[in-house]
Amino acid sequence: MNITIDGPGGSGKSTVAKLIAKKLSVSYLDTGAMYRAIAYYALKKGVEPDDEPTVIALIENLEMKLWEENGVQQVSVNGENVTPFIREHNISMAASTISKIPAVRIKLVELQRKIASVTDCIMDGRDCGSFVLPDAEYKFYMTASSDVRAERRRKELALKGQDIPFEEIKKDIEARDKQDMTRSFAPLVVPDKAVVIDTSEMTVDEVVNLICGYICR
Ligand code: DC
Repeated sequence: MNITIDGPGGSGKSTVAKLIAKKLSVSYLDTGAMYRAIAYYALKKGVEPDDEPTVIALIENLEMKLWEENGVQQVSVNGENVTPFIREHNISMAASTISKIPAVRIKLVELQRKIASVTDCIMDGRDCGSFVLPDAEYKFYMTASSDVRAERRRKELALKGQDIPFEEIKKDIEARDKQDMTRSFAPLVVPDKAVVIDTSEMTVDEVVNLICGYICR
């Protein structure tokens, strides 16, 4: 059984997906972390995320591994565990930019489908229900106003010691929405037959209960 949750940044997908994974005893796959890992690795190597030919060369023999440690998804690139670095504010836009490159997506989608084929999982991202697993048993699309999403992201970053002004985060979120929704290859869309949930005025528990109500097990 596979469950997909797509939606823009800050809509609450990962918080909700992690709780549902625990509740239903299925694996959780954070696909955004995979794009973030490649973006981080490219920047570290001095490669600009929009330099398509150089990014393609960089990922040719790149090895990504995903595993869980104390209930937290870990990701490594060529043997380096990059998990602690991929949530930095500057990685968000870099991940969105690098994710426009079809070769990057094809490589990661292959890995995502492989994982989903051998385990019951809940996967969150931008194209999980529309492109990665169009035949998933349960598909959801979570959204919220950009003000609510920016405030959630601001709090999340502040808790990690990154104090970024609300307006800057909101601008970044809106620019990322535009980039993710308008790219030509597997853009962020509401997947066919997905249940749409606006979480602007909902608590995490309300969203979890709503989604679990759709999933008969
Ligand atoms: O969900 P996130 O904020 O960690 O995702 C970071 C970026 O990665 C997002 O702006 C676009 C890209 N992404 C994607 O293109 N497809 C996915 N399935 C997940 C993320």
